[in-house]
Amino acid sequence: MAENIIITDVGPRDGLQNLPKALSVSERADLIKSLIKAGITSLEIGSFVSPRAVPTMADTDLLFNLLGVNTQVNYFALVPNFKGYQLARSIGIKNVVLVVYASDSMANSNVGMTMEEAKQSAIKITKQAMCDQITTTATISVAFGCPFEGNTNPAVTVDLVDKLSEAGVDRLVLADTIGAANPRQVSSLINCLTERNDPQFLGCHFHDTRAMGLANIYAAVEAGVRYFDTSIAGLGGCPFAPGSSGNVATEDVVMMLEQMGYCTGINLKELMSASKFVAKLTQSKSSGRASAWLNSQFGD
Ligand code: COA
Ligand code: ZN
Repeated sequence: MAENIIITDVGPRDGLQNLPKALSVSERADLIKSLIKAGITSLEIGSFVSPRAVPTMADTDLLFNLLGVNTQVNYFALVPNFKGYQLARSIGIKNVVLVVYASDSMANSNVGMTMEEAKQSAIKITKQAMCDQITTTATISVAFGCPFEGNTNPAVTVDLVDKLSEAGVDRLVLADTIGAANPRQVSSLINCLTERNDPQFLGCHFHDTRAMGLANIYAAVEAGVRYFDTSIAGLGGCPFAPGSSGNVATEDVVMMLEQMGYCTGINLKELMSASKFVAKLTQSKSSGRASAWLNSQFGD
């Protein structure tokens, strides 16, 4: 039987947060529904952040209510601090994404905290979430390289993994926030982490800034990772990380993994419909590198 790989589409959060103009709540919901129709069962729908800092993510509470209950899908929301956690919990979100940082400059740029403050905040939220039966995914931002401080010392990332694992997070995602990683760096860090962590505990989140997204995913798969954040049509980027482009496109990743014999549970034809829909909604061109070929396969 084919081995499963979980794909979390972060386009509705990481993708849309960077748009110059916010989509309406109903447009955001339609995008999410198109992804669910393609078989995606894990989705980051938005964030509970200051609407002044990230106007495009305002009203994630209304979006969650509009989506309604769907027991087949795990909806995740990013929370940058305890206040965001409380807001997410108050409306019934069951899975939160916490962010910690492998550099002080990135922590400061994103949330006005030091690395240590952001880590302590994530640990506090994790403890509370355990009592509230809410799952926690901790994302290590700039795990491989930082736009302000250059290459990340792997020891810093490993230490963050240790501390968050001790605190009890459910999953740890290594984020290549600006697309600085290369496949050797990815295998080396993951091999080091899997010496003391179950590979199932780890996930990866790669931006495709330098066309290394798929190569990095391949390196991570070979090292045992079975959980990836991707973004439909390659949308995205972080407004606080200069030079970052979108995440590796969901369609590129699904195509590669399925062709390699893994099972993602995602229907590529429906995924391409979702990709075209997103490009129309956001008035942007899909940056998925295989989209032209995939569209021709499905009679574009
Ligand atoms: N959700 C909504 N509002 C929030 C909030 C949250 N999670 N956290 C704080 N606020 C509000 C405060 O209540 C305060 O509101 P007021 O001015 O009306 O009283 C205001 O935001 C400022 O609060 P403060 O604690 O001084 O925070 P700040 O101005 O230093 O901003 C963050 C800190 C974390 C709220 C802000 O930097 C942020 O939202 N960053 C998100 C970055 C992001 O999403 N990056 C991309 C994803 S990794
Ligand atoms: Zn990202």
